[in-house]
Amino acid sequence: FIMLRSSKTFLEKTENKRPSIAVILGSGLTNFFDDKDISHSISYEKLTDFPQPTVQGHSGKLVLGSIHSRKVVCMYGRSHIYEGHDPKILAAPIRVLKDIGCKLLIVTNAAGSLIQDMPAGSLMAISDHINWSGYNPLIGKNDDDIGPRFPDMSDGYHQFYRNQLKKIAQQKNQQLFEGVYCMYSGPNFETPAEIKAAKVMGVSAVGMSTVPEVLVANHCSLPVIAISVITNLAAGMSKSKLTHQETLKNAALTEEKLINLIKSFVRDVKFNDTSRN
Ligand code: HPA
Repeated sequence: FIMLRSSKTFLEKTENKRPSIAVILGSGLTNFFDDKDISHSISYEKLTDFPQPTVQGHSGKLVLGSIHSRKVVCMYGRSHIYEGHDPKILAAPIRVLKDIGCKLLIVTNAAGSLIQDMPAGSLMAISDHINWSGYNPLIGKNDDDIGPRFPDMSDGYHQFYRNQLKKIAQQKNQQLFEGVYCMYSGPNFETPAEIKAAKVMGVSAVGMSTVPEVLVANHCSLPVIAISVITNLAAGMSKSKLTHQETLKNAALTEEKLINLIKSFVRDVKFNDTSRN
């Protein structure tokens, strides 16, 4: 099994510290670790397998720290298909997380809601997705050492870990919705007609990320859960126009709630070492 170069770089720089959990921060989310809990911070420029993010509100670094004495690595900033990257290269960072020892990936994103009663400021655990982006990072020659040609997605947002997340949210009295996430490529926000169609398909939230990472994680048997921060009602559902500024603003307003939930989860989660990893 051959490690990616960035995995070696990470392990060299951190003197072989292996995190058990990885977190990917979505748009407008920037404050995962308290400074005192950070042990290493590595810019994506030094990690040659990582595409460089180009959008405002997404910085690029991989940060190792500890949360309740568990080692956690956090991707501050991720790349999106709409930036023009070859979808294939979105796979590398996820494989690096697997290489360096992560047993669980927590993906976050900003999303628009298709449910009136799930307004901006809500948190939603993703139960499943519809890939309407037209892209797939697994297209191309398959490396059988990494995963199968035809990966199973019947438990793509691992129920074993999602159930624990739901229980922990309940204990904290933190409302946590659950629903299907639909990915559009962007960069435009969806049209009202697209949102109406997505409603018919059973979608609860829409966004422009997460699906590529989740596909790659499942392919390499890295269990994953994902949480959407609802930043707006989707197109056509309210009078206001959609803007990236609103996304960033509302994500920032909800950040503390989300980070608290994730930190409690990191503290309490029990690993299922006999599961599919
Ligand atoms: N659509 C797509 N992506 C988004 C949205 C939305 O309404 N809000 C935040 N990210």
